[in-house]
Order: sequence, then C-alpha cells, then structure tokens
Amino acid sequence: MLSSREEEQLVKIEKYAIDVLAEDRTGHDMAHVQRVVMQSERIAAEEKCSLFIVKAGAYLHDVIDDKLVADEEEACRKLIDFLESISVEGEMIRQIVHVITNVSYSKELLKAGDRELTIEAKIVQDADRLDALGAIGIIRTAYYGGKKGHKIHDPNQSAQRFQTKEAYREGSTVINHFYEKLLKLQSGLHTDYAKRVGKKRHDFLLFFLDEFLEEWG
Ligand code: ADP
Ligand code: NI
Repeated sequence: MLSSREEEQLVKIEKYAIDVLAEDRTGHDMAHVQRVVMQSERIAAEEKCSLFIVKAGAYLHDVIDDKLVADEEEACRKLIDFLESISVEGEMIRQIVHVITNVSYSKELLKAGDRELTIEAKIVQDADRLDALGAIGIIRTAYYGGKKGHKIHDPNQSAQRFQTKEAYREGSTVINHFYEKLLKLQSGLHTDYAKRVGKKRHDFLLFFLDEFLEEWG
C-alpha cells in the first residue's frame, strides 16, 4: 500500500519522466515506460517488496540511459537533486538509483551492474525485458533498427557477440538483434509472473522468426 504522500511523490516522478522522455523516438518513449510501470505493479503484487521503490524505479528506469542522455553521470546527479527536492528520503533514493542502474540489458551484458539485485530491481528489470519480447518487442526492434539505418535482414551477416557498449549500440540487422539479445532474455527472468508471461512472448518470437525466414526464402 502506498501512503498519500508517496502517491503525491509518484505523480511528480511521473511528470519528471515525461519531461525527459517525451521526445524519444527509439522505442523508449513514455508509452514504453507506462507499460513497464503497469507490468511492474502486476509482478509486485506477487512479491514481497516496496511498491513505492518499484513504481519510482519503473517510471525513472530510462531517464539516465546513454541512449537518451548525453552524460549519464550528470543525468544521475540531476535525478538525485530532483528526488531530494520532493522530499524522498536518502535511503529510498539509494534504492531507486540501484533499480535504475541495474535494469539495462546492455549494462548486464558488459557486466557493469551490481552483482546482487534487490527484489525491486529484479521486478523492474523483468518488466522492462517483457516489453522487449512478444509483438511489442518485435515492433520496437524494427523501429529502432529503422532509426539506426540497419538492414532488416542479411543472411551473409551473422549475429554477433558484442564486447563493447559502442558495438552493441551500433548493432547489426533487425533480425540479428533477435539472436543478439531478444532470445536471450527469457532465461534471465527472475520472478514467476515474468517467467509465465515471458515464455508466451519468447515462443511468439520463435513463431515469428520461423515465418519470416520461410517467407525470405
Ligand atoms: P537496455 O535499455 O535494457 O540496455 P536496449 O537499449 O538494448 O536495452 O534495448 C531496448 C530496446 O531497443 C530493445 O529491446 C530493442 O527493441 C531496441 N534495440 C536496442 N538495440 C537495438 C539494436 N542494436 N537493434 C535493434 N533494436 C535494438
Ligand atoms: Ni526500458
């Protein structure tokens, strides 16, 4: 249960996220954030956790991402100043920052995150990853690839194992991204709820790939 003070803080936190993400056209827009918040709440209902940290972390999970801001450290400092300005207490801020610095798949890929995640970080990470799977995950991947000028598919270009963040961000083809990231997500899901939904969405990716490759010829 959230206190009325926490409800009020969450309204301000949502507005902060809207201000940062409103113009995003890489699939990390506010609609993505709202889906992650909704899915995080569903997962949280089955876990013992702080709903405030989960919801705050979900709203803010992309606001210091390198895809969206030029300087991650500066974005993190600005975020902490903001949370202090709306009277979120120090330990809560620390927990929220732990969530948002550990959601990203690219950070995990490059082992840049913490080893031990809190339950709140696991929940938001699961919710974010579910949004990379299924029908929405497919569209987001094509949308991102289009923006980056990637080919849809090239049978001569094989999927890669990225060693640096720059190489990961550069990417290869839309279809390769399924093998480079999307199909690896299911096995890393933490919560029972996410494992149930994730299986359905993972299977949908496989179904889509089969059909795509058959049509390609
Ligand atoms: P995170 O924010 O967890 O580090 P990413 O930035 O890797 O995650 O990806 C978020 C979503 O953006 C992905 O699920 C995918 O839909 C899209 N995306 C990211 N990188 C690529 C890429 N190289 N090619 C195609 N889509 C991508
Ligand atoms: Ni996200």
